[in-house]
Order: sequence, then structure tokens, then C-alpha cells
Amino acid sequence: MEGKMRQHLLQMLMNNEGEYVSGQQISDKLSCSRTAIWKHIEELRKEGYVIEAVPRKGYRIQSAPDRVTAAEINARLKTEVLGRTIVYEESVKSTQEIAQRLSQSGAYEGTLVVADEQTGGRGRLGRQWQSPKGTGVWMSLILRPDIPLQKAPQLTLLAAVGITKAISKVTGLRPEIKWPNDILVNGKKVVGILTELQAESDRVHAVIIGPGINVNVGRDDFNDELKDIATSLKIESGKEIKRAELISSILKEMEELYHDYLNNGFALVKLMWESYANSIGRRIRVRTLNQQIEGIAKGITDDGILLLEDDEGNIHPIYSADIEI
Ligand code: BTN
Repeated sequence: MEGKMRQHLLQMLMNNEGEYVSGQQISDKLSCSRTAIWKHIEELRKEGYVIEAVPRKGYRIQSAPDRVTAAEINARLKTEVLGRTIVYEESVKSTQEIAQRLSQSGAYEGTLVVADEQTGGRGRLGRQWQSPKGTGVWMSLILRPDIPLQKAPQLTLLAAVGITKAISKVTGLRPEIKWPNDILVNGKKVVGILTELQAESDRVHAVIIGPGINVNVGRDDFNDELKDIATSLKIESGKEIKRAELISSILKEMEELYHDYLNNGFALVKLMWESYANSIGRRIRVRTLNQQIEGIAKGITDDGILLLEDDEGNIHPIYSADIEI
């Protein structure tokens, strides 16, 4: 497994991507012998890193495997708070469950739980979320904003905006948001976000934001039920995406938005969300637990609630539902 030393070594090599780092530099910085370095390099190679070793020049990383370990994410991280503590697990039932537990025992804001596979991934409205090994981003992020309960949905919208921005930067695709928090590419779903709350007497203790992103899932990996409605970044862009790079980009975008949100309120997120949304100004059908309404999506309120105008001109606030366009 990855010791601290190997993590530091990897970090040094990644920071100097494309450049040689000499054995001397490494051994000075990490206070270890040349033989120890060699052993760690061998271990990294076994994990799938391609590392060049040239006498008198040193080591150079040529390519990294698509992994979402703490070391891989850390090596690319450009944030101050989000993702500064990372808990990585190869296989878990649900990252939400772990994040909930960590949050209850006082985990720091920004703590991120990531898994390579989920065996019982949870979706919205009690649904399941397929989370096959090695192909997606299955993660949960703990935020601790000091806000009243009714404002918590704003953070899901913030996450959707941050993820949409990061996806377009990393892949060049143009994703759209479908209220409340699905992200679609070419009309099919690539991201779902589950947000859960820990609160007491109207104040939020923690918001646990859990995005599931189909990154390198192949067309045949989706079951029949999902084939027509779901897609992945790889299918749509035609290229494999490094999941750790996507995660660090998401954390960066979210941190910028979160900072602005805490200082200036919801206005910027709202504006950006509406600009990415595919439903605003269009006719939609909304299914809630006990009714179905059709009308025009007018926009979202400052609390992140969708406003629907029916054919009689009545405005309906929609708190939680599935929508069809
Ligand atoms: C949806 O129904 O659209 C939301 C899906 C959310 C899935 C993610 S995967 C990471 C996190 N852990 C879970 O168990 N669910 C969320």
C-alpha cells in the first residue's frame, strides 16, 4: 500500500511533470537513501506509473494510471480547503454513508471521501446508483456553512455549477443542468448529485454533497434500463479522462464558488446555474409524489426552488420532483 514516503515521492515527480528530478534532490527532500527511492519507484511502476530513470539526470514521470487515490488527487490539488483531507477506499457500500459518519464525529469542512467502486451507491428519491469499479467519480464532500436550513438546496445548485464548469474545462464538452441537479451531455445524464443534511434547530451542521459522475464508463457497461438515458464523458468526448484531474478541477471550481457564496450570497451561483440550465423558459412536465403539472419553467428562487407557471398563469414552487422537457 502507499506509505507516506511513496506519496511524497509521487507528489515530487508530479509537481515536476515532464522534468527530471535527481535522486539527490529526492533523497535530500525526503531524507531517505537512494536504495529506498529505487524501491519506491519500483512499487509505483507496479501500480501502473510509467517512470523513466536516466543516470545522472534522475527520474521523470511519463504517465500515471487513472486512479483516484489520495496521492493522485493531492498531487493535482489547487485548493485551500476542499479536499485537503481525503479518505480513499477501494470499495465501499456508499461514500455518503462514510461521509455522514465522519461528519458526525467532527470531520473538517472540505473532507472528501472517494471510492473506486460502490456496491450500494445511493441515488435521489431512494433510488440506486450504479457505481462500477474504476470508471467513475463516486465521492462525497463535507461542507459546514453557517446557514439556515432552508438555504441548504443552494449548495446542491452550487455543486452542479462547479461540476459543469469543471467538466467543460477538462473535456471541452458543453454540459447542461437539468433541475435540480442532473448534468446532461447531448441530452443524456452523466452526473447525479445526492445532497444530505445534518442539522439542528434550523441551523445546518453539515451538508454532504455526493456527486456520481460517469467518466470512463463504456456504452456496453450501462444496463438496458440506463442505455437510453445515461452516458459518460468518455462516450461523448471520445477520450479517456483522468478521474483525479477531474476531481481536483471540480474542487477548485467549487471552492471559488463557495468562497463567493459565503461572502456575497447566492446571486452568482444563481446566475450561472440559470445560464447552464436547459429548462428555463421552456415547457416542462413535473412529476411530484402525488401530482403532475405542466407549464413553463420560469427560473429558480433565491432558495433554489424551481418556479413553474401553469397554463392558467398560476405559479407553483417545486421543491423536489422529476422533470421532463
Ligand atoms: C441521483 O439520483 O441522480 C444522485 C446520484 C448520486 C450518486 C453519488 S455517487 C457518490 C455518492 N455516494 C452515494 O451513495 N451516492 C452519491
